Amino acid sequence: MDTFVFSEAVYLKTGEPPLINGWIPYLGMALLFRKDAFKFLLDQQKKLGDIFTVHIAGRYITFIMDPFQYVYVIRNSKQLEFHEFADKMASKTFDYPALSKGKFPDLKENLHRIYQYLQGKPLDIISDHMMKNLQDIFEWKCSQATDWETEKMYKFCCSVMFEASFITLYGRVPAADGHKVISEIRDKFIKFDASFPYLAANIPIELLGATKKVRKELIHHFLLQNMTKWLGGSKVVQARQDIFEKYELLGDYDKAAHHFAFLWASVGNTIPATFWAMYYLLRHPKALAAVRDEIDHLLHSTGQKRGPTYNIHLTREQLDNLVYLESALNESLRMCSSSMNIRISQEDFVLKLEGNQEVGLRKGDWIALYPQILHMDPEVYEDPKEYKFDRYIENGKKKTTFYKAGRKLKYFLMPFGSGISMCPGRFLAMNEMKMFIFLLLARFDVELVENKAVRLDNSRMGLGILLPDVDIAFRYKLRSLRKRKALGLEVDIGCSDMPPRFVLPEL
Ligand code: HEM
Repeated sequence: MDTFVFSEAVYLKTGEPPLINGWIPYLGMALLFRKDAFKFLLDQQKKLGDIFTVHIAGRYITFIMDPFQYVYVIRNSKQLEFHEFADKMASKTFDYPALSKGKFPDLKENLHRIYQYLQGKPLDIISDHMMKNLQDIFEWKCSQATDWETEKMYKFCCSVMFEASFITLYGRVPAADGHKVISEIRDKFIKFDASFPYLAANIPIELLGATKKVRKELIHHFLLQNMTKWLGGSKVVQARQDIFEKYELLGDYDKAAHHFAFLWASVGNTIPATFWAMYYLLRHPKALAAVRDEIDHLLHSTGQKRGPTYNIHLTREQLDNLVYLESALNESLRMCSSSMNIRISQEDFVLKLEGNQEVGLRKGDWIALYPQILHMDPEVYEDPKEYKFDRYIENGKKKTTFYKAGRKLKYFLMPFGSGISMCPGRFLAMNEMKMFIFLLLARFDVELVENKAVRLDNSRMGLGILLPDVDIAFRYKLRSLRKRKALGLEVDIGCSDMPPRFVLPEL
């Protein structure tokens, strides 16, 4: 094969993108990529343009950097497959037998079919349950907060969201110590999750300390004999259970491992995303005031009073109309999400792109979109490092038109992936985060008590929502009824009776 070298890139066959091979045998550019994928990709784009291939740990990954070309990758789902890759990675990470080996005919399709329970009417039902469970947990955890209570924010989000999601999806653990059982599962989950980036990078679990033991213990919680004791779980989990029962070759442990994988999918990203939503709001007083105002007006206009118990109900339409809250959530998702959308070429073929561009691909090559680059593109988002809570609002309505170089973009925000690999839980995730922030701000005065910057921990770049590099303390206190009444509202209006302890600079 004719090759020639230009800078560090090698050009292979005509029509194939430049290849950055790296000089380390097998690893190629893996170390630089893992260190800071975002910077690495931007550097290569500057040197080589919008399409290039990188050799990463034995794989050849072709990155398509131009967002106008995304659509050509996304719609080509026949030649550019996703499930084989996802199956390999997930089965290894969560310890169930791979689906694609022919042993479990149609299992993948059957599981996909029941994602319908995360949309439409079933979504309304599951969202209602989540709202109720969130309120129960807030009440159980926070109803004594007549004076300021201080907690660490990530820990708080994790504790509330994990338990509420767990009960909503899998059901309530009926034992007297139900909360304790779920917190034990949560603590193990956190330990497992800390190893997730290493597992995703194909590092053998045996090299990851106690991870293997913790994973096994977690999976054991989801054995049928335990799950049947949990009460009031969701239709989606029940339907998954019913499907697994039809596959005799799937052992009890394997089924439990599938349930555990679904748990990970449902909270692994939602918890850090909730953290960032809350953190950015507390960091930006104007954003906090606008979102709180929107929440108070909704409560007021629907005549929902604060009583001794939590009984707020929000319809789908009401959740949908919280445009400031949604914009603030989208903005934090833009800033903290870093998922790589991968497809695998099923044959040698030429991928046709806009502007008569063509990319020669070989069977087994990986194609990747890396939307974090789009999310942080100054041509699309002015001052992309700045949190602007109302970025996704225009004339009081949701803004869905974004431009690059004067052209309208089809894809401008992709925290939930794209096309065939798009997250089936995205609507629930948005509802859950909205409900969490809604209840927090409707019920409490909330403020930061530490003046430190929290940064993104880049160790799971490419894998989803990034975690914070440190946790940060905040405090909360039940909002006063007195203030509310003085203003003639039936709900709080959002100002604490106490002045803030210090004024935080806007980041
Ligand atoms: C902020 C929260 C969330 C984010 C950012 C997120 C993001 C994603 C992304 C990017 C993918 C695709 C992964 C890939 O391309 O390899 C995905 C897949 C998935 N997500 Fe989510 N997700 C969130 C919440 C949820 C929730 C709440 C659920 C379920 C209740 C869920 C269930 C799933 C499942 C089952 C898959 C795998 C789909 C498949 O089999 O193809 N996710 N998620």
